[in-house]
Amino acid sequence: MKTDTAVELDPRVQSFLESGIQKLFIGGEFVESISGKTFDSLNPATGEVLAHVYEADQPDVERAVQAAERALAGPWSKLTASERGRLLWKLADLMEEHAEALAQLDTLDNGKPIRETRSADVPLAIDHFRYYAGWATKIHGEVIENSVSNHMFTYTRREPVGVVGQIIPWNFPLLMAAWKLGAALATGNAVVMKTAEQTPLTALYLARLIREAGFPDGVVNILSGFGPTAGAAIVKHPRIRKVAFTGSTEVGKTIMREAADNLKRVSLELGGKSPNIIFPDADFSKAIPGALMGIFFNQGQVCCAGSRLFVHKKVYDNFLSDMSSFAAKIKQGPGLDESTEIGPLVSEEQFNRVSYYLEKGKEEGAVPLTGGEPLSGPGYFVPPTIFTNVRDGMTISKEEIFGPVVAALPFDDEEQIADVIRRANDSEYGLAAGVWTSDVRKAHRVAHALEVGTVWVNCYNAFDAAVPFGGYKQSGFGREMGSYALELYTQVKAVWMNLD
Ligand code: NAI
Ligand code: MG
Repeated sequence: MKTDTAVELDPRVQSFLESGIQKLFIGGEFVESISGKTFDSLNPATGEVLAHVYEADQPDVERAVQAAERALAGPWSKLTASERGRLLWKLADLMEEHAEALAQLDTLDNGKPIRETRSADVPLAIDHFRYYAGWATKIHGEVIENSVSNHMFTYTRREPVGVVGQIIPWNFPLLMAAWKLGAALATGNAVVMKTAEQTPLTALYLARLIREAGFPDGVVNILSGFGPTAGAAIVKHPRIRKVAFTGSTEVGKTIMREAADNLKRVSLELGGKSPNIIFPDADFSKAIPGALMGIFFNQGQVCCAGSRLFVHKKVYDNFLSDMSSFAAKIKQGPGLDESTEIGPLVSEEQFNRVSYYLEKGKEEGAVPLTGGEPLSGPGYFVPPTIFTNVRDGMTISKEEIFGPVVAALPFDDEEQIADVIRRANDSEYGLAAGVWTSDVRKAHRVAHALEVGTVWVNCYNAFDAAVPFGGYKQSGFGREMGSYALELYTQVKAVWMNLD
């Protein structure tokens, strides 16, 4: 599928890909896995092998934990907050120098369009490190007046948790690594991160920049590997004191259960089935592109994708017909083509999962207004699909599809918004929601009533390092980004000093 608009491969990506089997990053060095085992990372646009990667397992996790402990006992904890901040800022500067290489590598490994990695993933990741560079010097405890004695001086300190484990998914390989690392490093922790087996490459490229920035050895360790082996070893490791996970609700539950054995602190960012609600007084020139982007951004492989589209009955037909005609024109192709607007799904497994939901939807009586059939290869392409004739109880309106598939659902109350709110909240998930209306009172009322961690009014998929993100209900708990993420990576110590 080579086209005129395909980007020229950045020489740094070329040399990265030609550098042989990709090693694990442990203790500041690139090392082979102890078992010597490797696996392949594929290019989802073609299904061809992109790179061979060493596969971490329990002994590599152990090695990484020891490296992290050495960093904590030595150079890392000796740095001042300002020095930590400067390292994070330096990393952001290096990422900026390597922005095009990072964008291309993320596109190659995940499949997502280069126009998105250039405009969203990479700049957001850079910004994230800059934001947390600023926080490093602003983490403090407080002096507390107590009633024990006027000569008893009490204060608190916010201390790092220690060695923290981070397990990330494949949908935003670089950005998820940044979301996890920023707050953890600003607060002085050492990290053992496992990347997703589908997309190990960008984090390994980032590891080179982490080393170049001058982080002490062992502060960040990056392991490529699988969930039940390397991932489980992180969760079970008795001296990893916290685990942060982003991925499926199912694995989130397993992690929480297993972490109970050593009382590891857990934060989980899990799945969603987010409602996007279109009131008849919405500005359609914004709501239609908003609804399209809400579901089709990143091929729909977004935890907060607006996958249940509630449209008021009065405008349902017009809205859906306009939306489908736009959807049918979205340009699908390989991510490295600059004109591509939607790429392939990340893997054959994800392609099969989404294809199953397309079949299931039709079987239960839903009708695709556009799309509806997976494309034949090479590559894992599923076209933008809008289902109408959907009911709330159908599989496609309940389960997370994690693909470019939206279930459109009419609603018909206007003054009494209670019904659409009840339906929107009728889900075990509670990650995000969208509301489109020009009535500011209604917007706030609906925003307050929705049981979700993020509400977007007249916008969708807006993100900023300063604004917290995380779930209600079975979408997880703990907040990443903003000042809130500092809670995940610090623990409070109270110090009593008797001055008598
Ligand atoms: P997954 O939850 O299996 O994978 C996410 C991460 O967890 C990967 O790094 C994986 O290696 C790791 N993992 C898997 N099993 C583990 C275990 N037992 N212990 C420790 N770590 C483990 O997700 P998968 O299979 O890639 O996708 C399945 C579905 O999950 C998707 O269709 C989607 O619905 C949802 N998902 C949600 C994401 C989100 O952003 N919230 C991201 C990725 C998937
Ligand atoms: Mg899995």
